[in-house]
Amino acid sequence: MKKIITIVLLVVFLLMFASCRKETVFQARNLQPQTNMFLPGWSGDDSYLEQLIAQMTLVEKIGQMTQAERSDIKAGDISRYALGSVLSGGGSAPARNTPEGWYRMVNGFINESMQTRLRIPVIYGIDAVHGHNNALNAVIFPHNVGLGAIAAGDLEKGRQAAYAACYITAQEMIATGIRMTFAPVLGVPDDIRWGRAYECYGENVEIISMMGECAVRGLQDGGVSACIKHFIGEGQTLNGRNQGNAYLDRAGIERLLPPYRAAIDAGAMAVMISFSSVNGIKMHEHKELITGLLKEEMGFKGMVLSDWDAVRQVSGGTYKNQIANAVNAGIDMVMATNGRDSWESFIRLLTELVEEGTVPMPRIDDAVLRILRFKQSAGILDTPSLNGHGSIGAEGNRSKAREIASDSLVLLRNENNVIDKLRSYKNILVAGQGANDIGMQCGGWTITWQGLHGASTEGTTILKGIQEAVKGNANVTYSEEGRADGKFDAVIAVIGEDPYAETEGDRENNINIRGKDMDMLRDVYSYGCPVIVIMLSGRPMTIGNEYENWDAFIAAWLPGTEGGCVADVLFGSRDFTGRTPYTWRKSIDGEILYPFAFGLSKYKNQYGLIVM
Ligand code: BGC
Ligand code: BGC
Repeated sequence: MKKIITIVLLVVFLLMFASCRKETVFQARNLQPQTNMFLPGWSGDDSYLEQLIAQMTLVEKIGQMTQAERSDIKAGDISRYALGSVLSGGGSAPARNTPEGWYRMVNGFINESMQTRLRIPVIYGIDAVHGHNNALNAVIFPHNVGLGAIAAGDLEKGRQAAYAACYITAQEMIATGIRMTFAPVLGVPDDIRWGRAYECYGENVEIISMMGECAVRGLQDGGVSACIKHFIGEGQTLNGRNQGNAYLDRAGIERLLPPYRAAIDAGAMAVMISFSSVNGIKMHEHKELITGLLKEEMGFKGMVLSDWDAVRQVSGGTYKNQIANAVNAGIDMVMATNGRDSWESFIRLLTELVEEGTVPMPRIDDAVLRILRFKQSAGILDTPSLNGHGSIGAEGNRSKAREIASDSLVLLRNENNVIDKLRSYKNILVAGQGANDIGMQCGGWTITWQGLHGASTEGTTILKGIQEAVKGNANVTYSEEGRADGKFDAVIAVIGEDPYAETEGDRENNINIRGKDMDMLRDVYSYGCPVIVIMLSGRPMTIGNEYENWDAFIAAWLPGTEGGCVADVLFGSRDFTGRTPYTWRKSIDGEILYPFAFGLSKYKNQYGLIVM
């Protein structure tokens, strides 16, 4: 007995040693910030920027305050209107979706801005929220819910994952010439019916703060400026409705601030405002919270950006009044999207408002100063454009993403240690659409805004990962519907949510198992062999008592392109280290099935002994 324990301990130490070594090697190779080439930071000294502003005309100032969508502008607009920023909305990509295609487009915009009188470079922004996700064949990391699962199991591992995922994302962005991302989301979802729950790091404010801070550092060490979002209260709306209203007193708001404080302390110089309302007032016109709280009380010196055409949602009746209310509330740069008319009218109407005195000149100067501070901190005033394009989706980036994705998996149920027996089985049936669907693994904000089904971008499916892992040892049969002839030792059934983003993901009530997944499950139950269920979802799905039919249950969240992560823990030596970052209920208001931070390890039986 003693001998066995000694051997087991030895193996554990060896495994620990091996995993530590891997970390260090990775850090040495990939994580060392080069020399902070692109991000000198905001010096804190405004004198140079103030001199610049003193030379600017009203046209040039309002131009800086304008952010247009790439498809809403044509050649000549940037120089003519001295536009301050251009963005890609979800899925908005150049016709040639390659690093070179991106670089040429972005650099074209920058070159045009360098032909303006004052040569202030345009800043290009994009939603790189789990990898450079609009770029075809970029590596896609787990959505933040999965990173939150790593942290809920092991804080230090979570920190490293958030940093590494963002550092690599930044590198892939730099390869396409882009230096600003609208990320990370720092919301605190109180209701998983909200369609953006997966963009957040779970329900725990301390974890969100820690992860957000690491994300900002990872991005900015990698040469990309973060734009933290969405300020504030987006996760507190009634019934989890996207863009809804949250009732919040001072204590309620205070509870949500630590992630913002931590990210700003870490150097975030841009904040995007939330579409939602607080106590009936749209955040985009909430002067008390934008100017009073964020800028004055919290001392935020960077720029405040509006969300997608969100100015049109504030009170005032006309676009002109809405612009006055938003800018006077403290919005510095306006994402004037939804057609060319949005930004053209914004420029014309804001000019009138300043000339009439409705928007005071000092407010405009303050907005421009903040935008220039941001641009200075992004390094673009010194280095407007990068030297050529690089490559994306490199093997090293994929293997790091696969490691991170493995760590994000949560083992919720493991009856009779079935996971451990998997390796001895000879005939395995893999079932369900999700087993063979890169798009479903990635979820929303991948190649398109809403995400796609199928082989939308390069990656490894869960099925492929399993086939590679068992090659030569076991036969793998795949059936999407779960109908196959033959005798199986076990079924690995993949279920999940269809991809969605934002309001499209809101649910009125339970988050149910899809009909086609239920049909597949009923079929595989009839085989009489163990059923291992893998769930691809942005949040805990409300499964009632269905889990009682499952021998094992793994929450894989939205793991990204590297679906081989599942095989690594099922068939390899990696253990499950993730824990659920959201409390898991049987139904929306029902009994708790798995409490926050619940999760099992595959090597421990109920007595905590190692069984290998
Ligand atoms: C989303 C933001 C996003 C923006 C630009 C909005 O609809 O709320 O999170 O950054 O679009 O794509
Ligand atoms: C854009 C997204 C944006 C959304 C808002 C879409 O067309 O691609 O980036 O968040 O509109 O409604």
